[in-house]
Amino acid sequence: MAMFARPLLAALLLPAFLLSAASAADSKNNPADQLVTLINSNRTASKASTVSDNQGLGCIALQYIKAYEGQCDQVDEKKPMESSFTDTFAPTCGVQATTLSKITGRLVGCQSKYVSPAEAFDILVNDAKGLQILHSKNHTEVGAAVSGTDRGGPYFWCVLFSDGKPTTSFKVDGEVPKTAIHPGCFSGNNDDCMGPTNGAISINAGALSLVGALLFAVACAFAL
Ligand SMILES: *[C@@H]1O[C@H](CO)[C@@H](O)[C@H](O)[C@H]1NC(C)=O
Ligand SMILES: *[C@@H]1O[C@H](CO)[C@@H](O)[C@H](O)[C@H]1NC(C)=O
Repeated sequence: MAMFARPLLAALLLPAFLLSAASAADSKNNPADQLVTLINSNRTASKASTVSDNQGLGCIALQYIKAYEGQCDQVDEKKPMESSFTDTFAPTCGVQATTLSKITGRLVGCQSKYVSPAEAFDILVNDAKGLQILHSKNHTEVGAAVSGTDRGGPYFWCVLFSDGKPTTSFKVDGEVPKTAIHPGCFSGNNDDCMGPTNGAISINAGALSLVGALLFAVACAFAL
């Protein structure tokens, strides 16, 4: 009996193992990873290729929104200086300066309340221009981030696209430095970042997103 049961058990366990291995690649507890998944499924549904999730670019996306210093109302008018990429973002993330590649598109939005990645997607891609950036064939890779300030909100979401070669661009030596990570979450590093301490999600995220009082429903999408 046992001789028959074992292969059967293995046959039952193998798919479960494969499933867990697949989900380990991108953390379920990371809203930035979830946003990248939504971006890629929307791209493939419109016959655009998927873009690679690059942790160096994701970390830079997080520094990009930290540069706003929590000023939600400035997300439309201002953006960090180009020189910030080489002067602060790359060094903070441990990204080798020589591997920085061209940013081919960005989507940035800010909300007073935490929303789900799906709602953030809709806010970031809320017009024809946003859709054009989302579906552009110029992109080969992506980095996404969500960040709160120390007190929790407001919540900035940022997606940066690049046309760099995924394996050689935005290259991080070893690991992204801890100081570059929390508060906030970025994609591509398999960081389990949910929880009140990192400022990305408040305990009542589900209820809050239902309330959805969007004080600053400013989402902007600008092409370069
Ligand atoms: C892709 O996203 C756009 C913008 O939110 C939406 O209008 C469209 O229905 C989405 N496509 C699919 C296949 O989900
Ligand atoms: C793709 O890149 C080309 C060359 O830089 C640019 O002219 C074009 O507007 C870009 N397309 C999109 C959809 O951003």
